[in-house]
Amino acid sequence: MTLQTALRQGAEILDKNSVAAPRLTAEVLLSHALRCDRAYLYAHGGDELTTVAWIHYGRYLDERLRGKPTQYITKKQEFYGREFRVTPDVLIPRPETEHLVEAAIAAIRTHSSERILDIGTGSGAIAITLALETGVPVFASDVSMKALAVARENRDRHNARVSFFCGDLASAVAGRSIDLLVSNPPYVPGVDGANMQREVRDWEPHVALFAGDSGLEIYERLTSEAAAVVRPGGRLMMELGYRSLDAVRAMLKWDWTDIETVFDLASLPRVIIAVRRF
Ligand SMILES: C[S@@+](CC[C@H](N)C(=O)[O-])C[C@H]1O[C@@H](n2cnc3c(N)ncnc32)[C@H](O)[C@@H]1O
Repeated sequence: MTLQTALRQGAEILDKNSVAAPRLTAEVLLSHALRCDRAYLYAHGGDELTTVAWIHYGRYLDERLRGKPTQYITKKQEFYGREFRVTPDVLIPRPETEHLVEAAIAAIRTHSSERILDIGTGSGAIAITLALETGVPVFASDVSMKALAVARENRDRHNARVSFFCGDLASAVAGRSIDLLVSNPPYVPGVDGANMQREVRDWEPHVALFAGDSGLEIYERLTSEAAAVVRPGGRLMMELGYRSLDAVRAMLKWDWTDIETVFDLASLPRVIIAVRRF
């Protein structure tokens, strides 16, 4: 069987089973089986598929048909122009989160920020990107030891100045010492689980997705703990979940000022920024 035929057949099976972007998915899985990039498939479409590559490709197609996200099959996801290792122990970093990173980079470059903390770091994508883009060392935490193991691998691979620790939100942070606290917290209401894409619900870690019945539980705790650890004049930046802006803004009204919202490409409020009152 040639690469071209393997691609066509793979795309057809995926399409019949209603997998999104079947052709692209088949290309990604076949190039992963061959350990080459997608351009190779076009340059060598007439080449015969080796038995080993065929076995790998078949396994990957089967996993994808059973709902496993492509990124967990290939164990990688691009974020802010870099490749990060991902496993089912970490959330797959989303492109929307790059808005949070953009806002944080701008703040670090404009305001003096020596102590930066990323809470709920997952794969480490935010913390590692901030450290690499700004040259400022970053602290990052997660409640999941398994997620931190993946984050450390990403840190070492990118040679980024990030220190990780395990903890529940800001509980391990002493004093009002943080200049910039960033977080993409879990924000999906528990009740929404039933209607979620199965790729997300059945494969991504629930500790990374769900935040109580309302989806606001972690925001409530995080905004209150952040007020205790961010220095006066320091900043809090959080990614926003669907329809959470008003509720999160209300949580910030006593301890925070200069509240700003960043909208994503779909014009949805995606990031909230607040300055700790003096
Ligand atoms: C939405 S994911 C974000 C992961 C990563 N920062 C990203 O943007 O791709 C939320 C992360 O928060 C972590 N988390 C959940 N509850 C936590 C808690 N109470 N304290 C610290 N981290 C928590 C999860 O393990 C998960 O890695």
